[in-house]
Amino acid sequence: MNELVRLHRDGRVAIITVDNPPVNAIATGVPEGIAAALTSAQTDPAVDAIVIIGAGKTFIAGADLAEFAKSGEGPNLHDLLAAIEDSAKPTVVAVHGTALGGGVEIAMAAHYRVAVPDAQLGMPEVTIGVVPGAEGTQRLPRLVGVAKAVDMLMTAAPVKASEALQIGLVDRIIDGDLLAGAVAFAREMAARGGPHPKTSEMTGKLGTPEANAAIFAAGREQARKLRRNQTAPLAVLEALEAATTLPFAEGCAKERQLSDASLKSPQAQALIHAFFAERAVGKVPDVPKDTPVYPIRNAAIIGAGTMGVGISIALVNAGIPVRLKDSTQAALDRAMANVRQNYASVVKRGRMTQEVVEQRIALIQPQLGYDEFDQADIIIEAVFESMDLKKQIFGEIDKIAKPDCVLATNTSTLNIDEIAAATARPHMVIGLHFFSPAYIMRLLEIVRGKLTAKPVVATVLALAKTLRKVGVLVGNGHGFVGNRMMFQYMREAQLLVEEGATPAQVDGALTDWGMAMGIFAVDDLGGLDLGARCFADLRERQGPGPRMPVVLDKLVAMGRLGQKTGAGWFRYDEARKPIPDAEVEALIAHTAEATGIPRRAITPDEIIERCMYSMINEGAKILEEGHALRASDIDTIYITGYGFPAYRGGPMWFADSVGLDKILARVKDFERQYGVLWQPARLLERLVSEGRTFASLDAVKAQETAQEAQA
Ligand SMILES: NC(=O)c1ccc[n+]([C@@H]2O[C@H](COP(=O)([O-])OP(=O)(O)OC[C@H]3O[C@@H](n4cnc5c(N)ncnc54)[C@H](O)[C@@H]3O)[C@@H](O)[C@H]2O)c1
Repeated sequence: MNELVRLHRDGRVAIITVDNPPVNAIATGVPEGIAAALTSAQTDPAVDAIVIIGAGKTFIAGADLAEFAKSGEGPNLHDLLAAIEDSAKPTVVAVHGTALGGGVEIAMAAHYRVAVPDAQLGMPEVTIGVVPGAEGTQRLPRLVGVAKAVDMLMTAAPVKASEALQIGLVDRIIDGDLLAGAVAFAREMAARGGPHPKTSEMTGKLGTPEANAAIFAAGREQARKLRRNQTAPLAVLEALEAATTLPFAEGCAKERQLSDASLKSPQAQALIHAFFAERAVGKVPDVPKDTPVYPIRNAAIIGAGTMGVGISIALVNAGIPVRLKDSTQAALDRAMANVRQNYASVVKRGRMTQEVVEQRIALIQPQLGYDEFDQADIIIEAVFESMDLKKQIFGEIDKIAKPDCVLATNTSTLNIDEIAAATARPHMVIGLHFFSPAYIMRLLEIVRGKLTAKPVVATVLALAKTLRKVGVLVGNGHGFVGNRMMFQYMREAQLLVEEGATPAQVDGALTDWGMAMGIFAVDDLGGLDLGARCFADLRERQGPGPRMPVVLDKLVAMGRLGQKTGAGWFRYDEARKPIPDAEVEALIAHTAEATGIPRRAITPDEIIERCMYSMINEGAKILEEGHALRASDIDTIYITGYGFPAYRGGPMWFADSVGLDKILARVKDFERQYGVLWQPARLLERLVSEGRTFASLDAVKAQETAQEAQA
């Protein structure tokens, strides 16, 4: 029919094959191709039934997001769906791999659906802030019932074929060859004769107003919990509600209106940006795709503390065996007990069998010496944060490691080049900044030293993928990208409480705004001693002058180190819930008075501006220094590692959406009030003077990289 859709026949059954690798996405040409094939099959007297199937690994796994993002519109499938459903000859969709979004919408318009046992079907549109626009909200509840439709659309989680069969989304599971089974099924349906079931005409599962009211109320609650502050889930519920109260055609019109509005929403644009930003992180201009990589078949870790244990679990979960070294048997015993405890909770939640857990644990070899470190493909150092200690360790492993072994450090703040200089092979040294807990957190900051070789960069980018992490390349600046920005944010939050807010007020404003956690709760989790050390360091770098918060040091001196001591900025109950503490609030008020800081009422707007704009200004400095490749990389770091709401697109995207001129004006206000800490980034000033955005900066860079690659 065209390059993307083929039509052929098996006896009297027409087979329409969508062939748009890799995932048969609905791009321009696909709906047109299916429609043309359908017309041809319908008018062919030698055809009794029609099967629609995907080539390669999967059925249609959604719309082509790149096309979607460019045009700002979803594909218009309405005529195609009507043609499939109104066909006099039975239409059968055959699903393997994953049918997602528009793929499921096409499947639901067919008279019948068959699937292989490991197929999955899902409607994940809310994850990009969009209401399905191809009648999915109207057909899904008709097939699976209102409650299940609400659940599928709110969670965005696909259902497996067996469940799809049970809930009515699929009519038959095909064991063995899918196409042969689908053709046989189609023949059977043709022989049985029409009329064939039209989903749009089904009403049996649409429930009663009373039952539905409770389901939708629960759905709103689910949306509030799973997708706080987001508009698309509520609009999806409105569309589903329309399916239960309006005739099909009117429900579709309502869905279309909600879907069009959602596509234009800032939240959808931010979520789509976040989606592409995450996919762009692997693109490093001077490390092309064909850069050779060292195979990582095994690993060795030094330091079996919090991070060493977490990284070990992340590695063995990806099938990479680990030798885990510490300096005392007690530390090793504690580490292995922690490994076991972590896996025990995984088993308890039914996520893994004990047998699999035992296999994984057996892949971790605790040891006191350097035995077999000479065989390691990568050595990851995760000892205390001390330059002297790290240099000593790198000196030792330099003598043992094989020449092509990648030498990585998990330091959060130290200079990678200085660590690398302790070896005779600085080109093999790189920073792998995992986040805690390392087996859960998706972010991995990959810190490139001055001399790090390109194959080493390529190797760890590939390793990040193997570990199912998002590896973002950053430069060797103090605190790299994420923490460097967070120090600013933490400082402002602490100054805000000294000026009159409470920690609970600041955290409340931040979480209301969309952050997964408030900054004081984050500080309590990481440990106030760690935060205090970072501030001391910052003070030293900045020199005297700028006012820095002072309460933090007092809390540390009182032994309030955060969750690990049961109290920090907050107190903690058994469920580790932060509880505002009058003692801390009195300490803050007293300190402010003693230091002559006037107290005043602080608004949520000021909290957000001071916290976010300080980060954004620092992000601009990072970009201008070349310590991040793209503004969108900073966004990915914040969304995947720091609980920044994806529906705001990350800090730099958020800045663009506010308007860089507005941000700069506020930064200058704060500079007048607070001094040099708020000095505007030159890049921010330049972009404002040129009327540009961070996104435009990324676009220009992407173009340059593409041109260089072509040349
Ligand atoms: N904890 C975090 O959230 C986090 C996050 C990212 C990076 N980091 C960094 O990771 C590193 C480790 O942090 P952590 O929180 O796991 O520390 P930790 O104190 O929990 O563990 C450090 C471990 O190193 C061991 N060790 C010390 N000297 C050693 C030596 N000479 N040989 C072998 N083992 C030795 C200690 O016995 C201890 O078990 C630090 O550089 C830290 O900055 C920590």
